[in-house]
Amino acid sequence: MEHLTSVDQLDTNILDIIFRAADRCRGMRFKSYPLSHPGRVVANLFYEPSTRTAASFHVAALRLGASVFTVDDVKFSSMAKGETLEDTIRVIGSYVDAIVLRHPDDDAAERAAQVSSVPVINAGCGTREHPTQAILDMYTIQREYGTTPPPTVGLMGDLRNGRTVHSLVKLLRLYDAKIRYISPGELQMPISLKRGGEISFSDLGAILDRLDVLYMTRMQRERMHAGLLDGCNYGLTPMMLKQHGKPNLVIMHPLPRCEELPVEIDWDPRAAYFRQAENGLYVRMALLSRALS
Ligand code: NCD
Repeated sequence: MEHLTSVDQLDTNILDIIFRAADRCRGMRFKSYPLSHPGRVVANLFYEPSTRTAASFHVAALRLGASVFTVDDVKFSSMAKGETLEDTIRVIGSYVDAIVLRHPDDDAAERAAQVSSVPVINAGCGTREHPTQAILDMYTIQREYGTTPPPTVGLMGDLRNGRTVHSLVKLLRLYDAKIRYISPGELQMPISLKRGGEISFSDLGAILDRLDVLYMTRMQRERMHAGLLDGCNYGLTPMMLKQHGKPNLVIMHPLPRCEELPVEIDWDPRAAYFRQAENGLYVRMALLSRALS
């Protein structure tokens, strides 16, 4: 049984297998998908808000011929009565063939995996990890830019609280990418996740012209105290992009976006974030297919 709780489980060989499987799912996009897992059931347990992750896992399961059982309103689950995550997972695991879990606690996926009788896929837990997002991000970088020679990647935004960047840095290092951090002082990448040679900036203008990939994230307001962002002004503007962005820059964002990424940029061919979101479907089909096999 194969749980996916952390990117620490991955290496470039496994990623390559997942990427090629995702390519095959993409290739079938406008044809009919062969139903590879009819009769299987996936539980989508979302104890934190989600649009893309929940929807893409749900549709991925349907496209593979599996059915989906969803819990996305904690008010109506036994968690509201004080049931532990472990008890919920034990029981749901006895009903379904795979569990997709989003949860506010950093260690929720590991705890779930310890007691589950079926594969658990971490769909974003706390601020620590979001492995499936990191896999689709790396897949997008490989498709849009390539990995040889290694790209220079700027990770920008709320690097302290954003779980997508906490997972993505580890995958970028597998491909020897040069990593640059751009964030307000209070929201820097935690020291424990930084490595030597990875340089931090507080101003995008100081590094934009040297980036091959700009990975933007929103301020995680729900995870910080009020007032922290007062006077903090950061983001990409069409003018900065015009003046400093390389012609083949790849602009990414896990979405949802806020003021840091104005809609005017959507029309620029370098804006890859909607292609990135679409890639999420193919990558999650590949991941679910592995879990259900
Ligand atoms: C991210 C998340 O939930 O961590 N969204 C996503 O899964 N695409 C990013 C975010 O919420 O900012």
